[in-house]
This record gives sequence, structure tokens and C-alpha cells, in this order.
Amino acid sequence: MEPADIDTIVYVNGALVRKSKAVISIYDSGFCHGDGAYEGIRLYDGRVFRLEDHIKRMFEALKMLDIDPGVDEVGMSQIVLDTFRANEQRTDLHMRLQVTRGRKRVTGMNPKLNVGPASIVAFVDVKPPIFDKSGITLITSSIRRASPNVMDAKIHHVNQLNQIMANIEANRQGADEAVMLDDRGFVAETNSTTMFAVKNGELMTPKPTYIVVGITRGILLDLAPELDLIPREDDLSLYDFITADEAFICGTVGELVPIKSIDGKPIGTKGAPMPGPFTQALMRRYKAITDTEGTVL
Ligand SMILES: Cc1ncc(COP(=O)(O)O)c(C=O)c1O
Repeated sequence: MEPADIDTIVYVNGALVRKSKAVISIYDSGFCHGDGAYEGIRLYDGRVFRLEDHIKRMFEALKMLDIDPGVDEVGMSQIVLDTFRANEQRTDLHMRLQVTRGRKRVTGMNPKLNVGPASIVAFVDVKPPIFDKSGITLITSSIRRASPNVMDAKIHHVNQLNQIMANIEANRQGADEAVMLDDRGFVAETNSTTMFAVKNGELMTPKPTYIVVGITRGILLDLAPELDLIPREDDLSLYDFITADEAFICGTVGELVPIKSIDGKPIGTKGAPMPGPFTQALMRRYKAITDTEGTVL
């Protein structure tokens, strides 16, 4: 059986049920209007990685969206732990913890139409890191990442059409992910991950203005000095990535993955091994952290 088809146990509004049997009202605000927040969380060998960070970011998004989840941070963490515990598999489990504004009396975007409590769902999938660790190809999307004027990208919300449309462009062009620029032309992130470049002794990543402020991103910026790299958060353009010594993407769902090319332009020196030495060292350090840290089930 393919990992994606394994009938895991998921959580739906207080009940632990098989993924194949899980249902929610068509009047749920998430289904009708994409109105909610989510977190992607990984389980490594029976340990939930960076649980507190995920719960904190979830509650920040809910505050911004004015959604009361009906449980506090401790209660939400317990849902995550109980749901993972209900599954036999102890590694390569990925959870999408999602909170929406809940059920509506009738369709319509106005939150006054909501009747029930918020919906809390924890999807669980058997999902090893999703990208080919030997490297991926990117194209630049024609669709811009939303600016804080339109929709603050820091809010980790479920309404992902902006990124899905960029992802479609990548699919059409045979690439793995799409680079999304901000409305000034600087690199924001890929449609689902954070971007990093290594050049002249610096570990560079876009400023946290048009992006989801990644938990993986924070870990890597903290690791930079161990590798004698200077961490730099800045306005970066495609130039900084295409002319970098090394570049990679990162995130909970795919971990660290080197970028082979952007728009057909190869990254790094021709014929050099991929991943490059710094990316490889960061991949090793990240693995050491995920191998040892986390909230034990
Ligand atoms: C658009 C986007 N960028 C980056 C990330 C990576 O964030 P993290 O490192 O916290 O998984 C995510 C994760 O969901 C994301 O949706």
C-alpha cells in the first residue's frame, strides 16, 4: 500500500476516526469560505517536533482571524498528542492541524452567520519528506505573494489559492515548486516552502514580511554561526539565488532540499556535488535536531 493510502486515525471535532470515515459539514467555514488557520506538524520516532512553536503560531493566526478555538494552548497540544498517539505508526507521520470558524446557518462570508463553535480537525497522513533530497527545480511564478496590504502572509491561513495557482504554473512547466516574488519584485518564498541561499560566507533568506515565518527557517538561522556563516534576513532578488554558491528550500513537510535550478539556470558551480557542502552540513544538523528533540508521546 502507498503511504498516502494508509487509513490513519484523524481527529474531527472531539472524535478520533479513520481517515476514510472522517466527515465534516458542508456548511463548515473552512469548506465554504477557506476561513481558518492551520499548522503542518511532524512526528519523528514518537516525538512531536517543535510542538510549542506550532501551537504558538496557530494561536497567533487565530487571533488575527478573530477565531476562538474554544480550547487553550494546552488543550490544543493535547489534541495533537492524543491524535498522534491513536496511530500505530510512530514516524513519518505528518499532521495538518486545522481550525476553522465552524459551521454556518447559511452560506455567506459574514462571521455573524456562524452558529457553532470553531471546528478543530487534525488530519494525519503517513508522509515521508515530500521532495527529492538530491535536488529540485524551480520556476518563477507570474503570481505575486500577497503583500500585508492584501493578506498578511504571516497569518498561516487555510486559504491557499494564491500559492496553489503558482503551484499549477510549476506543474505546467515541469518544475517541482514555484518561486513567488513579492509585489516589489523581491523573492518571497516558494509556493509552500522557505528559501535560503549561501554566498560569500552568508546564509541569506528573505525578510519576514511577505512570507510564512517558518519554524524551520528560525532553526537554520540559529545554526548559521556553527557553520561560520553569517545569518542575513534581507530583501533578496532572483539574482541573489541564481548567483549563489548554494541554494535550498526548507519546511516541516519536506525538510531541507537543494535547489538545482531556477528558470532553467543552474545554481552553483557546474559539475559540483549537490547538495553543496553548507547545505549538506545544515541537512545533517537539522537531522540531528529532529532525531533528538521533540515532545514525547
Ligand atoms: C507558504 C509556506 N512557507 C513556508 C512554510 C514552512 O514553514 P515551517 O518551516 O514552519 O514548516 C510553510 C509551511 O506550512 C508554508 O505554508
